[in-house]
Amino acid sequence: MQAIEISPFTKDVLKGKVAAVTGGSSGIGLEIAKQLGLHGAHVAICGRRQKPIDDAVAEFASLGIRAFGAQCDVRKPEHATSFINGAVREFGRLDILVNSAAGNFLCPAEDLSVNGFKTVMEIDAVGVFNMSKAAFEALRGHGTIVNISATLHYGATWFQVHASSAKAAIDSITRTLGMEWGPEGIRTVGVAPGPVAGTAGMTKLAPGMSDAVNELVPLKRMATKWEIAMSVLFLVSNGAGYITGETLVVDGGSWLNTSLT
Ligand code: HXC
Repeated sequence: MQAIEISPFTKDVLKGKVAAVTGGSSGIGLEIAKQLGLHGAHVAICGRRQKPIDDAVAEFASLGIRAFGAQCDVRKPEHATSFINGAVREFGRLDILVNSAAGNFLCPAEDLSVNGFKTVMEIDAVGVFNMSKAAFEALRGHGTIVNISATLHYGATWFQVHASSAKAAIDSITRTLGMEWGPEGIRTVGVAPGPVAGTAGMTKLAPGMSDAVNELVPLKRMATKWEIAMSVLFLVSNGAGYITGETLVVDGGSWLNTSLT
């Protein structure tokens, strides 16, 4: 079943909305930011390197998307605040925060340094917390937070004790903020992709294994970045207005397949 990349959403479904996307200058985050923009939102993106940010903002401009980019390390609370404040200054409001920034690598637990474990926990989990706190006031009363998670921690995943711990923490943040910030008018949701074609995740975590991965997925292929972005689009739309605290698995059925094939 091939991906059919024709959006089911109207082009103005997010008209008047402003979305901030961390890690929005590359990979899944870039596609999410682009699709939010193509569906009417103004987008603010951040990443650690200036060049990809500039390239993304230029691409968005060529597509007619109003975009703002800033360098930001999500591990640093002051960077998170500065990025969110910059987005609000630029566009006058904030409606959507997508926490997509992440770091990962393969390493057996016995070889992983404490700093290696801590680094991934800080980028992934602490980063989500920092950005969510920074965006709280701006989102209050009307906003949505989408945390990009994974399925690594549903069972166990070889050589990723750092990332699976971090993603478990992210899911817990999603549930907790869903409860605590629901009464504040903020929905908090997650998307848990499985293998996604053409991403750093695939290159770093399963190098040269595309065919084998495709074979193991019940839907017999990896996701496209566009399909992950469409799930985010649904979750930030009115159609998902009664969903909070929930993480949507978008993995072609992968994590269900526990058989050792
Ligand atoms: C073992 C490693 C390592 C590796 C880094 N470390 N890479 N240990 N194997 N391959 C250790 C270092 O030795 C160091 O510990 C500590 O981690 C911090 O490393 P730095 O390089 O100083 O950190 P930093 O520059 O902040 O880089 C962070 C990073 C990097 C995560 C290590 O790879 C990065 O920035 N990645 C961002 C892009 C990325 O990874 N994208 C893929 C996301 S995939 P010591 O003890 O030596 O000081 C994804 C999907 C998840 O998230 C779900 C998949 C299904």
